[in-house]
Amino acid sequence: MSRTPVIAGNWKMYKTTAEAREFAAAVKNELQNVSGVEMVVCAPFTTLSVLQEALAGSKIAVGAQNIHFAEEGAYTGEVAPRMLTDLGVRYVIIGHSERRAYFNETNETVNKKVQAALKHDLVPIVCVGEDLSEREAGQTFSIVETQTRAALAGIEAGQAAGLTIAYEPIWAIGTGKSSTAADANEVIAHIRKTVAELYDGETASRIRIQYGGSVKPENIGEYLAQPDIDGALVGGASLAPDSYVGLIRGAV
Ligand code: G3H
Repeated sequence: MSRTPVIAGNWKMYKTTAEAREFAAAVKNELQNVSGVEMVVCAPFTTLSVLQEALAGSKIAVGAQNIHFAEEGAYTGEVAPRMLTDLGVRYVIIGHSERRAYFNETNETVNKKVQAALKHDLVPIVCVGEDLSEREAGQTFSIVETQTRAALAGIEAGQAAGLTIAYEPIWAIGTGKSSTAADANEVIAHIRKTVAELYDGETASRIRIQYGGSVKPENIGEYLAQPDIDGALVGGASLAPDSYVGLIRGAV
């Protein structure tokens, strides 16, 4: 089955509303005629509304970088899924390694957030990946398998097929040290095999699995040329309009 690649920028904790508007104005027309790739920008909560407005009529979808799993309630500082859909947001990153490391996200909370996102028709981009010591200990496959199984617990096949997994080796994030395309493909193929074991071959052939970690316009083509890599989750290189446009052009 052929899968449409998805290129998602993750702005992390960068950009004010004015900077988000400026970005949208710079990329909107440039990317108007692009086809064959899904384009996403995952922005801080404070810029989602202006970005949604500024990108209206374009093919670029807006995503968030986190959600809470509760419908609503006394959770100071948190944002519920329906607050995102209210803005027209389509995607949400869940379980990014920075959230696992600095904000106590666990496999269990990741699973609850995936369930909550799907309930509200948000497309989760679920992040998995090993750190350097785990890689050096030869644990990469078992780490990504455990994280994948935990994230998808209780999710039905039809819903699993529609979500996106991002394989992000932690040692490659923001370091300039990217995984080779062949290595990334091997790990992603293992994640796909895990999905096949959890569900079936059909679900595994439909689910999209991205690579993330020091992806740039110059190397995105190598990743997308691999049979199991269905796009990229990009941090630093998604911030500047020229670079974001370069990523998309490198992907088609
Ligand atoms: O979510 C994106 C990843 O953390 C990758 O970040 O492209 O700056 O290495 P990076």
